[in-house]
Amino acid sequence: MADAYHAVPITERVYWVGAVDWTLRDFHGYTTRRGSSYNAYLILADRVTLVDTVKKPFKEELLSRVASVIDPRKVEVIVSNHSEMDHSGCLAEVIEEVRPREVYASPMGVKTLAALSPSLSTGITAVADGRSVSLGNMTLSFMETRMLHWPDSMFTYLQEEKLLFSQDAFGMHLASHERFADEIDTAVLEYEAATYFANILLPYAGLMTKLLARVDSAGLSFDVIAPDHGPVWRRNPGWIVERYRRWAQQKRAKKAVVVYGTMWHSTEKMARYIGEGLSSRGVPAKVMAVDAFHRSDIAYEMLDAAALVVGTSTLNNNMLPKVADVLTYLKGLRPSNVVGAAFGSYGWSGEGASQANEVLKEMKVALPLEPLRVRHVPTSSDLAACRELGEKLADMLNA
Ligand code: FEO
Repeated sequence: MADAYHAVPITERVYWVGAVDWTLRDFHGYTTRRGSSYNAYLILADRVTLVDTVKKPFKEELLSRVASVIDPRKVEVIVSNHSEMDHSGCLAEVIEEVRPREVYASPMGVKTLAALSPSLSTGITAVADGRSVSLGNMTLSFMETRMLHWPDSMFTYLQEEKLLFSQDAFGMHLASHERFADEIDTAVLEYEAATYFANILLPYAGLMTKLLARVDSAGLSFDVIAPDHGPVWRRNPGWIVERYRRWAQQKRAKKAVVVYGTMWHSTEKMARYIGEGLSSRGVPAKVMAVDAFHRSDIAYEMLDAAALVVGTSTLNNNMLPKVADVLTYLKGLRPSNVVGAAFGSYGWSGEGASQANEVLKEMKVALPLEPLRVRHVPTSSDLAACRELGEKLADMLNA
């Protein structure tokens, strides 16, 4: 096993020792079609340090990569930047095998790790925000990044290398043999980084903006950003930082998402006409059937769309289950600065569109128009009303 996996040098004294999960396809409801990686890093300082661990089933891969560079028993320090189980699942077992002298986590991390595993309830030292720790010839400093992505999250900065271990931030779910962003197609990076932000970090966009402002005011500069998922940013790390700055501001493009569920194609016809109305007035619409698109694809489109229009048939006095699924998911992601509307066809009771409208209201989507409902199959005048709804929304966005 010791020869199975190899560490990858990131800098002269820092190695990637994580694990690649080629088969991961679901991360809390977010479809991860390209798998993921759980990154951990080994610092060959005077006090050898491991930053983060990996998901439990990948413990041997982690230790094997460490062993390709140094006897794992020589690891003196472990830093747990984030206690979510994709990074801490094997922490207790790694501590048991490696027996480090110190394990560091944020104050919230110490509490969370104790709650996750009884064997992590002692022996972990809390490092306060701003504290530094000497590794002999190198120095780590810590910055709390609460809610990015859990309350315990923190950044660790290796001063001598200007290297930021950023845990979930600046990551993406992408399994690959390539360890560096500059080895991967830019279109893939753009798509996967945006999808990751839209599906994981969007609820904390405001905190992200504050964090980036704090990093700016502290005058921190990065030669390398090493996240806990996906590739390492060793050339132009500003590329991903600038995207985070933009996405966190939730500045929206003249673009609409029309998402719908349909039983007998009536709501689908309405969706298409609404999409036509929007697009005809300069607001390109993505018309997305819940049967054809995964919720996380819809979330990706909502990263920059200015309008969210939701349609549903009525099934047993309710909106369609898949529409409820998407709305529940989007509500949790808390997109802001969005205008919208609800619509749908029905047979006799017709609650679906009103229910969708209520969820949009709860999401604080601006709703300038009443829900548009059509009984059974839309007539040509109904379809004209759908087109008009799209045109009106577009006019509002163009105003
Ligand atoms: Fe990659 Fe929040 O865990």
